[in-house]
Amino acid sequence: MAADRTTMKHLVKIVLCMSSLLQLRFISATGVVWDENGYVLYCPCMGRFGNQADHFLGSLAFAKMLNRTLVVPPWIIYRHHTPPFTNMHVPYSEFFQLEPLLQYHRVISMEEFMEKLAPTHWPPGERVAYCYDAAAKRSPDKKSCPMKEGNPFGPFWDQFGVDFDKSVLFPGISFSSYYKQQWTKKFPPSEHPVLALPGAPAQFPVLEEHVPLQNYVVWADHMVQEGEGYIDSLLIRPYVGIHLRIGSDWQKACELLKDDKTGPHFMASPQCVGYNQNTAIPLTKNMCLPDLKEIQRALKLWVKKINGKSVYIATDSESHSKQIEQLFKGNVKVVSLQPEVAHVDLYILGQADHFIGNCASSFTAFVKRERDVHSKPSSFFGMDYPAKKKDEL
Ligand SMILES: *[C@@H]1O[C@H](CO)[C@@H](O)[C@H](O)[C@H]1NC(C)=O
Repeated sequence: MAADRTTMKHLVKIVLCMSSLLQLRFISATGVVWDENGYVLYCPCMGRFGNQADHFLGSLAFAKMLNRTLVVPPWIIYRHHTPPFTNMHVPYSEFFQLEPLLQYHRVISMEEFMEKLAPTHWPPGERVAYCYDAAAKRSPDKKSCPMKEGNPFGPFWDQFGVDFDKSVLFPGISFSSYYKQQWTKKFPPSEHPVLALPGAPAQFPVLEEHVPLQNYVVWADHMVQEGEGYIDSLLIRPYVGIHLRIGSDWQKACELLKDDKTGPHFMASPQCVGYNQNTAIPLTKNMCLPDLKEIQRALKLWVKKINGKSVYIATDSESHSKQIEQLFKGNVKVVSLQPEVAHVDLYILGQADHFIGNCASSFTAFVKRERDVHSKPSSFFGMDYPAKKKDEL
């Protein structure tokens, strides 16, 4: 009997040991589990923060559609005018929390992916690039994905020491759900574990159906602390936050509206003119590039409406604070921080009692989406009462 019991114990031990060995096959030495369903990896290589954020939401949806883990890239921050002029690559979690994204879908930060999974599962020599055949046609040999050509492409992958060994081209299949079958058929994860792309697998501006994913983009604690600190010390509630996108590059862009060269869909404008191309209302000059008169008109209206005690101005060039102070005869406190990190502006605008943004701007779009998530009111220059989405009526 005693001998039997000992044998039994041994057997149990062996079985336990085997099952944990099986598990170990999937768990690397660092405790991060490799996803047999594969990964989507991309460079947020188009535009500044607002565009990158639009693309991020679409990429998140794309990864979920293919049931692959999304490798969350760092934000690319450009230093065109400040030394050392090289791009900064700021981990996602520096500004936002990674955990809330997991409520929607599996993600891993690019930093963690490269450190813990890439050495064994995506090692140098086996790094495949995926791109449209049209993109490859622009490369010298006409069949390589232009993964690292130019800025920000090269510096982005170099930051992680990534070179590509091979290219796989695909025809013009888009990233929308309509093409799900084609993606999964063409690229089964067993043969294509890591889909590394030169740009985001998403559209700009963000598709209407992906706007609600903003729900999962939650500020990092230290950003909340910093932002609340500024609000407490500098602003008096209720306050109106405004985003002035009026710099010289923007002035040039908005000139395209003259002679109706663009139609109503121009950059981020679907957020105010409507996503449906056929029913979109016209995008006016004041919506794209409000002049001082329009800025003052809109501010007067909303400060009065909410009995505002202060105004916060985020700007890409001038703040017009003097003129705005004069407009309210010194009865309203006017603040413009012009912070080094634009995210401070984003946070403060997100918390305003009312927000007036620029319809064509993706920076405004980030603020507007975040405010919508929390049922906070927003309007646009040139449009005081933006239409609600159908399902909100
Ligand atoms: C999606 O991927 C996860 C993780 O690899 C897996 O557990 C799950 O079964 C997959 N779902 C579908 C519908 O294939």
